[in-house]
Amino acid sequence: MTQGSERVAVVFGGASGIGAAIATRFTVEGWRVEVADLPTVDVTDEATVATFLDGVLAAHGRLDAVVNSAGVSTLGNVVDLDVAEWRRVVDVCLTGGFVVIKQAGRRLTAGGSIVSLSSLNARQPGAGLAPYCAAKAGLSMLTEVAALELGPSGIRVNAIAPGLIVTPLTQPAMDIAGIEDDYLENTPLGRAGTPDEIAEAAVYLTNAQWVTGEVLDINGGAHLKRYPDLNKHVLAAFG
Ligand SMILES: NC(=O)c1ccc[n+]([C@@H]2O[C@H](COP(=O)([O-])OP(=O)(O)OC[C@H]3O[C@@H](n4cnc5c(N)ncnc54)[C@H](O)[C@@H]3O)[C@@H](O)[C@H]2O)c1
Repeated sequence: MTQGSERVAVVFGGASGIGAAIATRFTVEGWRVEVADLPTVDVTDEATVATFLDGVLAAHGRLDAVVNSAGVSTLGNVVDLDVAEWRRVVDVCLTGGFVVIKQAGRRLTAGGSIVSLSSLNARQPGAGLAPYCAAKAGLSMLTEVAALELGPSGIRVNAIAPGLIVTPLTQPAMDIAGIEDDYLENTPLGRAGTPDEIAEAAVYLTNAQWVTGEVLDINGGAHLKRYPDLNKHVLAAFG
């Protein structure tokens, strides 16, 4: 065990996009950071998540922050969507969030915190995005309930709800003509965000000792307008 004074963070889903930016930012801030991602760690597999966190505790002797950035999405209307596809998205985005909060909540050092990645879609419905929207809405509420329960143990539980950040998750949709323009027309600040802007919020929530149960909108004001009609653009592009 290499115990030191540096704080220790685990980033689930930290191999790509927003999670990778968060892992990098924590490292720059002087944290020791462990990344957990597929194929070795699946957030839907409780035993694997628990074993990974035990390994981090054994290696570093402390656990100060756990970030869950794992997420997947799918496109399909409710009446067409296969139940298996619904379950795949809800399993990663909601049940995975539950597993990470549960196992982190059992192990975090007092004063530690959990940050989950919710979404603008937790509060803004997007046609064709039912499982993702429902799972993220559930994750936001789960954040509030877990904050209530873990507060007396000195563990804070928060989430970030980003608007559009171009990453491997969103790039395929941005490749469909009209979608990115529609997002930006409905974003008062007129641009997409960057992974580093979300990482900045993750650092803030991790350090903010009197903040818990918060779902922080970081979206250029997009929650003030409407979500793009993805179906319209998909239909125009593919018929
Ligand atoms: N990019 C956006 O515009 C945006 C907006 C709102 C919310 N989010 C959320 O932010 C988070 C990060 O998204 P991103 O854009 O960086 O996507 P991304 O695809 O770049 O990264 C997601 C990571 O999660 C990992 N992952 C997927 N399923 C997993 C599983 N079962 N177990 C462990 N890891 C798993 C992937 O391997 C990948 O490394 C997601 O939860 C996403 O829903 C993204």
